[in-house]
Amino acid sequence: MENKIIYIPMKLIAVLLGLSYCLSAQNPHLKEVVKFPLGASVNPRMLNENEAYRKIAKEEWTSLTAENHMKMMLIHPAADRFDFSKGDEIVAFAEKNGKRMHGHTLVWHNQVPPWMKDFQGDQKAWEAMLKNHIQTVVSHYKGKIVGWDVVNESFLDDGSMRPSLWADHIPDYIAKSFQWAHEADPNAILFYNDYGQDGKPKKMQAILDLVADLKRRGIPIHGLGLQMHINFVSKRNELQEVLDKSVATGLKIHLSELDIAVNQKNNPNFVYEEKVASEQAELYKFVFQSYIKIPTTQQYGITFWNISDKDSWLRGYFKRPKEYPLLFDENYSKKPAYTELTNSLNKLN
Ligand code: G3I
Repeated sequence: MENKIIYIPMKLIAVLLGLSYCLSAQNPHLKEVVKFPLGASVNPRMLNENEAYRKIAKEEWTSLTAENHMKMMLIHPAADRFDFSKGDEIVAFAEKNGKRMHGHTLVWHNQVPPWMKDFQGDQKAWEAMLKNHIQTVVSHYKGKIVGWDVVNESFLDDGSMRPSLWADHIPDYIAKSFQWAHEADPNAILFYNDYGQDGKPKKMQAILDLVADLKRRGIPIHGLGLQMHINFVSKRNELQEVLDKSVATGLKIHLSELDIAVNQKNNPNFVYEEKVASEQAELYKFVFQSYIKIPTTQQYGITFWNISDKDSWLRGYFKRPKEYPLLFDENYSKKPAYTELTNSLNKLN
């Protein structure tokens, strides 16, 4: 009798376990069907305040990037003061939940604090200031951040060097920045990160030339970040060419800020119809399927630029309320593109 009482619930449990296994096998997470780190950029306020956001950050990704809080303006607000509080919050969340942490970004022309813009001094003083910034931040996160976007967006579309505070005051600032970052954490994987190389062969070539030059001089560069802020009509042959050329450098490749815009012209009456959504899903499949074909040793991972459509910089920064670039909708539900992408990759496994 006793045995029977135990037997029935155990059978039930077995059935339920089996059922849940079947369901999860039928509806896997995207991270389960890829063999490389999969991530998103995140915002600490959202991680604190929004349960749905936090749940996705925990359950869907294996890697995280701070969307803004490790940039110069936020992490180094005054000449004599660093503010690591928000970056540390993200790192603590990543550590607690077993995520890899990627660092973004040490040197950029944008989001520079006013005191740096007003900085006065000769070349030596500028170098000392930038070196101190890079080495203080990298040292603070040494052993916690696996890889850094050391320099971000140094080239214009025509392949020329973008005028910036750094280019203006520190000759060879890219090479120096990589060297300084490497000195601070010799184990960190160091990336050059940029956007919009597709259809801009001169920009692509400038990046390849930079990589060749740094390698020739023995400057430590280990990876290329391709931001991949693309749109649903981006040309596949151009995206493929960028990936192929980047892979040919032998460096690690990070699709570092992926999103696929659908309303680039900011049409206020835009309707996110099934046709557009399905073209967007097809392009997501193309991007992932191209990426899984590159050598696994070069797969640093794919990172989405934030989590849901509502959180996207395209809505905030560009003020495009009718933009739907990501895999989760405004209610933090998986969009059809998530499921289609996951199923298509699952079939290839
Ligand atoms: O936090 C302040 C808030 O206090 C203030 O009231 C408000 C008023 O404008 O601004 C808030 O800061 C905004 C910040 O995002 C945080 O939300 C800035 O204005 C806004 O400019 C900033 O935009 C960020 C943008 O970089 C800056 O250029 C986006 O969130 C961020 O997604 C975007 O990320 C970049 C990558 O770093 C590099 N690649 C391109 C990508 C998109 O531009």
